[in-house]
Parts: sequence; C-alpha cells; structure tokens
Amino acid sequence: MTPSETATMSPVGHVRDPKLAEQGVNRIEWAEREMPVLRQIRARFERERPLQGKRIAACLHVTTETANLMLTLKAGGAGIALCASNPLSTQDEVASALVHRYGIATFAIKGEDSETYYNHIGAVIDWKPEFTMDDGADLVTVLHTKRVDQIGSVIGGTEETTTGIIRLRSMAREGALRYPILAVNDAKTKHLFDNRYGTGQSTIDGILRATNRLLAGSTFVVLGYGWCGRGVASRARGMGAHVLVTEVDPLPALEAVMDGFQVMPAPEAVRLGDVFVTVTGNIHVLGLDHFRAMKDGAIVANSGHFNVELDLDSLKKEAKAVRTVRPFVEEFTLRNEKRIFVLGEGRLINLAAAEGHPAAVMDMSFANQALGIEYLLTRARELKPNVYPIPVALDQEIARLKLEALGVHIDTLTPEQSAYLASWQQGT
Ligand code: ADE
Repeated sequence: MTPSETATMSPVGHVRDPKLAEQGVNRIEWAEREMPVLRQIRARFERERPLQGKRIAACLHVTTETANLMLTLKAGGAGIALCASNPLSTQDEVASALVHRYGIATFAIKGEDSETYYNHIGAVIDWKPEFTMDDGADLVTVLHTKRVDQIGSVIGGTEETTTGIIRLRSMAREGALRYPILAVNDAKTKHLFDNRYGTGQSTIDGILRATNRLLAGSTFVVLGYGWCGRGVASRARGMGAHVLVTEVDPLPALEAVMDGFQVMPAPEAVRLGDVFVTVTGNIHVLGLDHFRAMKDGAIVANSGHFNVELDLDSLKKEAKAVRTVRPFVEEFTLRNEKRIFVLGEGRLINLAAAEGHPAAVMDMSFANQALGIEYLLTRARELKPNVYPIPVALDQEIARLKLEALGVHIDTLTPEQSAYLASWQQGT
C-alpha cells in the first residue's frame, strides 16, 4: 500500500494517522522551548492580530519547528494551508497534531509518492492564498505553470532556501514572476546560522543516524563550499574526519584552502573519499564516472535541496544489484563489483534520516518568515514582481531578540565614536 492509501483523508488535511497527534504535540512543545524569538513574535501577534483574515499557503518541511511557525501565523489571525516541500521530510506526528490538535489544514505524509506530493501542493493552492511561503519554490512554480488561474489572488510570498532564490531570480529575469517575493534565505540571521550551523550539524546527524559509522579518521568529501558546505566541512572536521572540499568557484575554493581544507577536483576526491556529501544546488555533481572510481563501500549522501545532485538514474542502470541494507541505506553493486551506499534516496539527508535543523536556528529563520509576511502585508502592493531582500532593520531586530533571549549583552557606541564614524575629516 502506498503511504497515501494508508493515510486519512479529511477536508482539513491529509496526514498518515490521527493517533500520532499526541506524540506530535509533545514534540512541537519541545521545539518551542528553543524558539524564544518566535515565541515573542507569537505573543505580539496574539495581541495585535496583524494577519487577521489573511490566507497563507505554505510549502515547507513539515517539522516541529514549522509547526511553531504555523502556530505563530495562526496567532496573528491568518488562515493557513500547509503542504510538504519534500516527500521524505515530513514528521508524521507533527502533521497529525497540526490537523487534529491545532486545526491547521496540513497535507503531508512522509514517503508520499510524486503524485501525492503534487496533489498536496494543489490542495494548498485550492485554499486561494493571498501569500505563499515556499522552501525550494515548488509552490510558486506550480502556481506559475499548472495553476495560473489562482495566481491573481496572490499578492506576495517568501522563499526560505538558496535553491529557491536561484529559481525565482531566473523567473524574474525572464519576466515570468508574477508577484513579489521576499528572500528570507538572504537575511543574515537566516543563512549565516541555518545554512551553516543548521545544515552542518543536521547533515552529520542524518549520516550518523543512517549509518552509525565512525567519522574519526575517515576521509570526508564535501562537494560545494557555500554556507551549507562550510557548515558540513567544519562539523565533519570536528568529528575527526580528514575533510576534502571540491568547488567550481575560485573564491569559496580559496576560502576553503585558508580554512585549512584540502581542495581538489571531484575526479581526484572520489578516489580518496569514504563519505561524500553534495551541497551545491546543482545537478549531477556526482555521476557515473565518479561512482565507478569510488572505493568499495563508499557512502554517498546529498544535503542540497533537490535530489538531483546525485545521478541516481545512471547509478541504477549500472548496478548489477540494489538492496536496502538498513533504513535509509541502499547498496548498489556495480559491474566492477564495487558497492556504493546511497543514503536517503539522495534526498536531503538531514531531513530524510534525521530531524532537520535544530529549533534554535530555525527560530531565526522562521522569525524572518513571520516578520516577512507581516512586512509584505503593508508593502507587497507597492512592489513590482521581483525578488527582494528582507529589510536590514528586521534582520537586526531578530539578531537583537536572539541575543536578548540568550542573555548576551553587547556594547553601544559612545557619542564620540558615532561622530567619528559619521565624519570624514578626522584622521589620525
Ligand atoms: N529545513 C531544515 N531544517 C528544517 C527544520 N527543522 N524545519 C523546517 N525546515 C527545515
């Protein structure tokens, strides 16, 4: 039976099992403890109800942290429909709690097939949203291709990921984008923490939960040295691995060298690595020639948004045998007798085999989402269809609130220092 056949269909959502709701509530409350900034925003939203009567369609990973964002938007008065932004990332207890305890229309089942995944996106579009909240731009893409009929009611949206922003900028360049989008990903309080420390920790967590392998002494290859790659490389080094980095851009490559990593082209790295993680946002970063050249027993995972970074179709064609050896671990035996272990079907390993980024970083990412929607409420109608940064003042306010919640105090400039920074005549 497919996951969709075992699930409960109801007018307010489509989730695996209502009996999981109690467990979901406990987990959502556990995450909430680590989300002080979002809690403060929720308290203000409850008082002020800035989103009263607004309809939001969200396509995000359905996790405990996302549940807290949904509860914040609901506290602000919004009506919400939520679907998954990846077929493997849903936490079924959370989806169930959202529907059956919190009354939030949620369409998400871990392991849903591609048809169900897109039906769920369709279901949140049927909600006739005024705002979209996306993670990877699948919702925006479906709205702009298969559901253009619904696009007229949308006045603005937000996007969570680097991958989504790249897609949306390309839509804007071609004049295809029909409404303004705030690039939540580009806020400093998002990518400097979520992409780096969140992806860093949760990717290692996913690999370890799937394999229980010792990283100390292993050769760990990170393909891509963006913010996510930096996080993964630094955490792998912290676990005692010898870390190799591959890059196509000379600037991050140079940075990786100065950060103390060995940088080399992928065809060289594949001969040396024990564990591989792609975090590039690009397609077929590891292809058949790479797989053939790997050591017997190499472990391969992806932590980029889409499952396109590994050329799994070619790997499947080349394999003499394929079997699942542990949950989230598939063994491919190649014609050259080497065995390659692919984790989590090449989908983002931190959400497929673990629980995604910890709540303490999602606190800031989702504070940007909540305040971003509030900002769009008053500004979206003046903005032309394009991709816009989160206002610096919001970013700074989120950093200030986070520091306050952590009990960290910082200095302020003296009047003399402010005057010095503002002047150009004063020298030595
Ligand atoms: N993306 C990465 N980790 C996540 C999480 N815990 N919740 C929602 N989206 C995520």
